[in-house]
Parts: sequence; structure tokens; C-alpha cells
Amino acid sequence: MRSLLALALLSFSLLQAAAASSPCRTEKTTFEHGERITDPLPHTYLNLADLPSQFSWEDKDGQNYLTPPRNQHIPQYCGSCWAMGTTSALSDRISIMRNNTYPMVQLATQVIINCRGGGSCQGGNPGGVYEYIHRHGLPDETCQNYEARNGECTPIEICENCSPKNGCVAIQDYTKYWVGDYGSVRGPDKMKAEIYARGPIGCGIDATEKLEQYTGGIFSERKLLPMINHEVSVVGWGVENGVEYWIVRNSWGTYWGENGFFRIMMHKDNLAIETECDWGVPLLKEPNKQHQVHKQQQQQQQEYKCSCVKKSDSVKTHVHTPEPHTYIKLEDIPAAYDIRNINGNDYSTVNRNQHIPQYCGSCWAMGTTSALSDRIKLMRKGAYPVINLSPQVLVDCVTANNSHGCDGGDPTAAYSYIYENGVPDETCTNYLAKTQSCEPENVCRNCDPSGKCFAVQKYTKYQVTEHGRVSGEDKMLSEIFARGPIACTIAVTSAFEQYTGGVFNDTTGAKSLDHEISIAGWGVTSGGVKYWIGRNSWGTYWGEAGWFRLIRGVDNLGVESNCDWAVPAAIH
Ligand SMILES: *[C@@H]1O[C@H](CO)[C@@H](O)[C@H](O)[C@H]1NC(C)=O
Ligand SMILES: *[C@@H]1O[C@H](CO)[C@@H](O)[C@H](O)[C@H]1NC(C)=O
Ligand SMILES: *[C@@H]1O[C@H](CO)[C@@H](O)[C@H](O)[C@H]1NC(C)=O
Repeated sequence: MRSLLALALLSFSLLQAAAASSPCRTEKTTFEHGERITDPLPHTYLNLADLPSQFSWEDKDGQNYLTPPRNQHIPQYCGSCWAMGTTSALSDRISIMRNNTYPMVQLATQVIINCRGGGSCQGGNPGGVYEYIHRHGLPDETCQNYEARNGECTPIEICENCSPKNGCVAIQDYTKYWVGDYGSVRGPDKMKAEIYARGPIGCGIDATEKLEQYTGGIFSERKLLPMINHEVSVVGWGVENGVEYWIVRNSWGTYWGENGFFRIMMHKDNLAIETECDWGVPLLKEPNKQHQVHKQQQQQQQEYKCSCVKKSDSVKTHVHTPEPHTYIKLEDIPAAYDIRNINGNDYSTVNRNQHIPQYCGSCWAMGTTSALSDRIKLMRKGAYPVINLSPQVLVDCVTANNSHGCDGGDPTAAYSYIYENGVPDETCTNYLAKTQSCEPENVCRNCDPSGKCFAVQKYTKYQVTEHGRVSGEDKMLSEIFARGPIACTIAVTSAFEQYTGGVFNDTTGAKSLDHEISIAGWGVTSGGVKYWIGRNSWGTYWGEAGWFRLIRGVDNLGVESNCDWAVPAAIH
């Protein structure tokens, strides 16, 4: 009788598992060539009894080391959890190794899928991810955006640039990140030691229907025969009313669970979270090489040029409080300022590439969301979640003066749209470099295993309380110093396209404003040359790792004539 009941329960849970999301991870973590362990494992040198009762990389001594949240299921369903959980943990570990100094790196999950480094959108094995990155290295997402599709492992689908004339070409010189040691870990004590000493780990779980419905709190579910089918990243642990739990990052968007996270009861192997975990140790240089390969001049001349700004004076601003130049004294503004290093903290958000997977004149949406995302990070002192506002929603939804999307747009109209409507983060709508219609499904979506996509009803929208224009060196300095980065329009010359570093000085007198960037600081060289620090959206293989310096005070490239600012609303 008893065994019959058990059998009935068992088949019921098996049925349930089949009904839930289709498996995106193999049951076992396997390493084709075995684990790679050259350094002692943390549980062998840490005294487990000394580990704190609460610990999380989301808030360690007041610092957040976690990179932005992810959504594996947009723009279409893709069973890439095996690559998401692992690359997310590795990206976080890079921030930890660098003590949160610039740059924050988001590893290119799509390259892992394109090269079948463990699997595809039909599921895979996390062990393969570490082996792939150990052997081949992995670029950041400015080489390859996440597209939720099974691409091909060609040079162009590892690191690319696209231009209006030449189509897409492979980039030869770009920064790669590597993995040294990697292996498996299981059991609460060893998991804790690994997380505490080196950072988040990947873990296989049984993603049940109950977990899919989770909206918050400490989750618990144990099954007779758990079936590991999903990969997540465990970033810490805590205790509430005597119940110990893991803090886990999922890749189902911030609209799921607790801002994309869930907490799950520790010790009883709930959802089998304590049996199949994996870890890797990032290397910031290629293994067996003395130093990182330095970026050389591109063999091929790249063309980035766009007329991606179409400005119209008729777009209204909404200014409600006195602007900083009315209350800040110029002599109180420091000689140098850089959003990437304010008292040792990096408040810049991830770098972007507007031109992949195809050319798109979306600079007006990139420059504005980049400046605003940085302002949100600054306002929240880097606390989790670090938000990437969605430029794609602006590409889809902002229309002004008959121009919009990838044909170019108006930065003031971008801020005006956010003022009126708010804008979600990228886990609602990721960057696709194409113009879509502004329907609810293109503002915030989710997709299910049947291939159906639908609009998400409940999600966070980020608002601005006011926005306006600013021009002139002094007013720009006051605005940035008081409230953070601004979005500015510049004239792009071919010399600027080929820029590889240093303080740029245009000598052609170009003033035809056609490109949008963000200005996030300033400085003076030892030779006394004043410059702006700007962020472009042409990938980290361009310029100074995606950034540039431009001569200041002489309206070079027209940078001091047409800037926009926006003030983020408080986030609760
Ligand atoms: C629309 O843009 C064109 C050129 O981009 C400009 O000449 C025209 O004045 C603009 N219209 C309005 C209403 O601003
Ligand atoms: C890491 O950065 C924090 C904040 O800037 C600083 O207080 C701390 O000393 C740094 N730690 C190391 C090991 O550099
Ligand atoms: C920038 O270029 C202009 C025009 O050629 C030149 O007059 C100026 O001295 C240059 N500035 C610097 C700092 O090199």
C-alpha cells in the first residue's frame, strides 16, 4: 500500500516536472577533461565555523559586486540557463577580483551558445562553459549581444561590428576574459566556503512549477525524485527567524521573484540545489601568457558613422527646480572628475555597442539611457540591482518629427518619453538593433517553451522627475558634478571613427551634430590640456575601451553646444 502511494506520488511529481519549463540543463555537471584544480579549495583552508551567518555579494561591507540582472527568455524562448547561470557568476567574480573598479564586465553569453560551449538554446551542461572559456577566452557583450538563438561559431559571431555600407565584419583585436581553475562543489559547507572565498557559484536545480509561480519569501520544496533541469547562481546566504536560506540569482528577468532573485531554504537540498554546483576562477589575462595581448590598430578601417541624431527644437523639456549652475560655485568644482572612479568607486554602468547584431542609428537612445543608468547607479551608491535602462524601448516607442528608431532620433524626445511613460530595464526588452512597433509586448515581454511570447503586465518602470538642456563648458561642469553624466550631441569625423586613445582634437572644425554620446567626467593632462571624458556606444574595442577623451573648452566637435540631462526619480 505504502509503496503504491509512493509510486503514485512519484509519477505525479514526474508529470509535474514534464509540465514545467523544458529542461535547459543536463542533470549532471560534467567536465570533458575533468576538473582543473591547481589552487587549494576554499573549504580546505577556511574554518567553516568562522563563516558569518549572513553573507551576500549583493551587499558585502556596503558594496554590491553583482553585475546587471538577466533574462534568458527574450526576445524569444531559449533554454540557455546553463550558460546564463555560469557567465553571470563569472562576471560577478570579475567585479570581485577587481574590487569593483572600472570596467564592470558582462561576459558574452551568446558567444558560448554560438560556439556550443556546453550546449545550445535546447539546453546544455555548465561544465562545458568553464572548459570553453578556459580554452578560448570570452569577450564582453559589446562584441556580441544576447539574442536567445543558436548562432554559429564564426569570427563574426564572436566579435563583430556592422556599418551601413559594408555590412558586418569580424573584429580581430578585442579584450577576452579567461577561466583558470574550475570544478564542482556540493553540500552547504563547501558551497559556502567557495562563495565566501571566491564569489558566486552556478547550481543546478529542479525548476518546478511552484518555483515559476514564486513571487517572494523563503521558498521550500522537496520532491521524491528531484530532476535537475535548470541552472542558477548562488550569491550568498542568510537567516530569518532561525531559518537559513540561500540567496539565488535567476535569469528570468527582474519582473520574476524578488527582483529576479529568490531565497530558498538551506540544508535539506530543496529543489536539489545543494547537489550539482559548479565554479570557475576568472583570469584577466590569457593563461600561460605573461601579459594580456594589447589592442592593436584594427587591420581594417572601421566605419561607424551615422546620422543618428535628428534634433528638433520643438520637443519640450520639463524643468522644475533650479539648475546646478545657479547654485554651484565654479571654484568648488574639482579640476578632475570621473564617474568611473569617485573615491575608488566605479559608478558607470556596462559599456554598449549600438551596431550589433546589425547596424542601427540608435545613438540618441544609447547616449541618453547610458547617462541616466549611470545617474541611477550613482544615486543608489552602486547598490543592487545595477540597472541597464532599455534603449530598445526608446528605439521602439519614441517618435518625434517623423524620425525614430534606427533611422536616428531626438535625445530630448527620449528623456521626454521617459518623463511621460517611464522606461523598464533590459530584462524586459533587450537590445536588438532594429526598429519595432511600440506594442506592450515590445516594452516588456516574456516567452514560454511553446514559443509563444506575451506582454508582461507587472514590471518596474524607471521615471525621471525633470529633464532639460545644457550647453557651455561651465554649465556642463556644474550639471555633471551635481547630478551625474549628461547626453551630448557631437559631430563625428573620420579621424574620430579611427580614434584609438589620447585627447582627441578635431582640426577640421566639424560642427554638423549627428552623433550622441555621454559625458561622464573631465580632467587636465600633465601638459595642461583640458579634456572631457566621454562614453561612446561603439563597443569596448573602440577608443579607450569604449570611452574617449576630447579637448574641452573650445566646443570641439560641437560637444559643448547641445546636451541633455534628466534627473532619475527615487527608487523604492
Ligand atoms: C523636423 O526636422 C527637420 C530636419 O531634421 C527640420 O527642418 C524641421 O524644422 C523639424 N520640424 C519641427 C516641427 O521641428
Ligand atoms: C576595495 O574598495 C573599497 C571601496 O573603495 C575600499 O574601501 C577597500 O579598501 C578596497 N579593498 C581592496 C582590497 O583594495
Ligand atoms: C587643437 O587643434 C587646434 C587647431 O589645429 C590647435 O590650434 C590647438 O593648438 C590644438 N590643441 C591642442 C591642445 O593640441
